Amino acid sequence: MAKTGALTGKRVLLIIAGGIAAYKSLDLIRRLRERGARVIPVMTRAATEFITPLAVGALAAEKVHLELFDRDDEIDVGHIRLARDCDLVVVAPATADLIGKMANGLANDLASTVLLATERPVLIAPAMNPTMWSNPAVSRNASQLLIDGAHFIGPVSGEMAEKGEAGVGRMAEPLDIVAEIETLLDNRPKPLAGRRAIVTSGPTHEPIDPVRYIANRSSGAQGHAIAAALANAGADVTLISGPVTLPDPRGVKMVKVERAVEMRDAALNALPADIAVMVAAVADWRVDAEASEKIKKSPGEAPPALALTENPDILKTIGHHEKRPKLVIGFAAETNDVEDNARAKLARKGADLIVANDVSPETGIMGGSRNTVSIIAADGVDRWPEMDKAEVAERLVALISERLNPL
Ligand code: CTP
Repeated sequence: MAKTGALTGKRVLLIIAGGIAAYKSLDLIRRLRERGARVIPVMTRAATEFITPLAVGALAAEKVHLELFDRDDEIDVGHIRLARDCDLVVVAPATADLIGKMANGLANDLASTVLLATERPVLIAPAMNPTMWSNPAVSRNASQLLIDGAHFIGPVSGEMAEKGEAGVGRMAEPLDIVAEIETLLDNRPKPLAGRRAIVTSGPTHEPIDPVRYIANRSSGAQGHAIAAALANAGADVTLISGPVTLPDPRGVKMVKVERAVEMRDAALNALPADIAVMVAAVADWRVDAEASEKIKKSPGEAPPALALTENPDILKTIGHHEKRPKLVIGFAAETNDVEDNARAKLARKGADLIVANDVSPETGIMGGSRNTVSIIAADGVDRWPEMDKAEVAERLVALISERLNPL
């Protein structure tokens, strides 16, 4: 019984070629089924040297297709049926051999024949030794497949099965392949297609000396969620992030910075844009004269005084810029008089909307996964109930879409 999830009702034809990374395909099958997909496995003969059809079939709960001239299957030209009866073909792991066959239209076994016969999107997850991956013949074949419209994920960098070897050649992780499959099969509307967005997220770190800095409690969770939601809605997103421990959201251009001045420069660099959402908790001040060496304490001496200087206000700079995006949104992290303070910020910073939240310690918002916000516009306030930061992001993106594409 298939589960209900993001891939419910989808049929994924999974072609497993012969490489040591084939063991990860077992996990890929499990992850796809967890999300509701039906997985139809095809294995090359070489793949069966690495993992057994029994394991693949048991995890997929499907017949494993192995032979082109299978007497039972070919009664109704099985390879053509396999090629058509799916929403997507995934090749994981894709070997140099299979990539070469695909790029050159060769078909001498079931996997390569199905790939030639399909009109569905094809996602290729290569896995091979880094020297093989960087071989000009393989690069040529991979480039040709991109031109032909295939999608690639990985290979990624890391250690190889060969002792002591590392480099770009590892198959992408199953969860990343799943995320890419979800993106490829996502046929939700893309109201922000063709729009450019800049998002700032996370804290900034303002150095005191080479080992110390001034920071704040922002985790980047809300900013990263907004960047991801904008990308899901089709926007071309540049996410400028201070130091956070979160993974990079998929499908966004990441610019990683530490200090407010770097964040400002990156934001100005990302102009022109249609949308700017400034979520970062930018430090208001930086140390006036950053010490080039670690400041030492001397017995009996008073602690050093930290002279601070004001950081540039990125939201205000963008809000009053000659290339001002059509929609500029700021956040207001307040501990008191939340809405009044936010309304004052709207005008001062040149924003169209301010998303105000109460960050008093008892709310647990900073560092937490939930948020309660009010949307302050020149013409009024909209108070949203408490919800997940991901849901705040979705709703904000819906609001952005409405404002940019009025009916
Ligand atoms: N912001 C910014 N650059 C700064 C300070 C803040 O871009 N140097 C942005 C934040 O990303 C947020 C908004 O401005 O979108 C509000 O930040 P906040 O720190 O609450 O406002 P301040 O202007 O610092 O006002 P105050 O300290 O008086 O609350």
